[in-house]
Amino acid sequence: MYNDYGDEMSNQVDLDKYFKPDLNQARKRSKKTIEELSFNLSDAHQKIGVNKTYLIHTYGCQGNEADSETMAGILELMGFKKAVSEAESDLILINTCAIRENAENRIWGELGRLKAFKRQNPDLILGLAGCMPQEENVVERVLKKYQHVDIIFGTHNIYKLPEYVETAMFSKERVVEVYSQEGEIVENLPKVRNHHFKAWVNIMFGCDEFCTYCIVPYTRGKERSRSKEEVIKEVLELVEQGYLEVTLLGQNVNAYGKDFKDIDYTFGDLLRDLDQTGIKRIRFTTSHPHDLDKKTMEAMRDCQTVMPFFHLPVQSGSNQVLKKMNRHYTKESYLKVLNELKNIVPGISVTTDIIVGFPGETEDDFLETLDLVEQAQFEGAFTFVFSPREGTPAAKFVDDTPEEAKKQRLYLLNDKINQGYLKGNSRFVNQTVKVLVDGVSKYDESVLAGYTEHNKLINFKGHPKLIGQIVDVKVTLAKTWFLMGELA
Ligand code: SAH
Ligand code: SF4
Ligand code: F3S
Repeated sequence: MYNDYGDEMSNQVDLDKYFKPDLNQARKRSKKTIEELSFNLSDAHQKIGVNKTYLIHTYGCQGNEADSETMAGILELMGFKKAVSEAESDLILINTCAIRENAENRIWGELGRLKAFKRQNPDLILGLAGCMPQEENVVERVLKKYQHVDIIFGTHNIYKLPEYVETAMFSKERVVEVYSQEGEIVENLPKVRNHHFKAWVNIMFGCDEFCTYCIVPYTRGKERSRSKEEVIKEVLELVEQGYLEVTLLGQNVNAYGKDFKDIDYTFGDLLRDLDQTGIKRIRFTTSHPHDLDKKTMEAMRDCQTVMPFFHLPVQSGSNQVLKKMNRHYTKESYLKVLNELKNIVPGISVTTDIIVGFPGETEDDFLETLDLVEQAQFEGAFTFVFSPREGTPAAKFVDDTPEEAKKQRLYLLNDKINQGYLKGNSRFVNQTVKVLVDGVSKYDESVLAGYTEHNKLINFKGHPKLIGQIVDVKVTLAKTWFLMGELA
């Protein structure tokens, strides 16, 4: 029997012998103290990858991009080299995202596609990592229907990758090890970073907000902050290696430090300390409006290295929807925090995330969202249609809005958001802005592309030797999605 992707299906698998996820466990928040571990590659694992190659395909958020850099770091420490193509790989890892159904569907398609490589090279090891393996239904489906997947592990045990690769290679057994609860914070993890002058820096893991639509608190576990010493040490090392920009990562960076028992040290304090490290640009993502405090805003105002840009997801402008989403704020209190932020950090650019078609969202609720977008003057947004995630409360809410109406709302919302993009870009015309040059434009090699302090994409003519530098550019033209300029 074959499924949609041409995979052989088998119901003969003994599912109970594996270390599988459990959403009920994942929902729990334990009070145990989070230990700090230091990663160390055992002698036995150091040569396993010699003369072998790997590839990692990454989906999802910046958290996953950072995790993939860690996986690459571990594999290279084991002797693996990056492969030039899938056909020549000895190991392929897929780092997955579970946030919406369409994100998962892409990965099911990917898994089907990769089966051909496994047929050509039966020694190829295929691994599934990231947020999808944290879901019970995903692991069962892979075990039953995707027998060509050799390793399944989740977000909490990346540091055990050497063990998993060893078992898959030498014992030819399938490895399934997903922890439903977070364990230690592991430091000293090797990384192969994708950029040479911009870096991700994790400052915390997990999320305790439990927005009713969201799978992240189940896939990433309890909120826990890295120690300030480790974060500062990492940024100092990056400065030494010539990095110019760091993006601090967490599902809710504004909750940083709230789990520290012995010191009173929160996100604003961290920004001030990192400002002293010599790094030129500090960005962060993502923030929760309910945890955003004045201390953070004042640190942004006072620290020149903290960029005047804020991504502050609002999700909806309707109070009844916000309540059902468990967001802990109202339209009015969101706008109050936003205005405070704009007053303290003048000229700051603010973007957001919005979900339309949440269960029970009426036309009037949607109009409240449009009104909020108008008042907030967002300069950009990621917009989504609600996607039910099994195991979350909202998946069980009555949802009687027709798909067509949801699509129409998304269309109207995007139209309004695009006006905000253009307005946000237009305010920089004729000004000289500082740009960190990323690379050459996709369309024209004589044109460079980079980001301004306000996180606006800008294109201008210049020599590729400027890549990796911060340069002054005069803005000549504003389009919806980007600016045009010339070197000042
Ligand atoms: N921790 C971050 C990012 C979460 S995921 C935050 O809270 O901002 C990024 C965005 O995906 C969310 O802000 C939300 O707008 C969207 N999202 C999350 N779950 C979703 C779901 N079930 N359906 C549709 N969009 C969703
Ligand atoms: Fe999901 Fe809400 Fe946590 Fe963001 S804050 S990760 S939307 S539960
Ligand atoms: Fe996706 Fe997991 Fe990030 S669900 S958005 S990869 S935390």
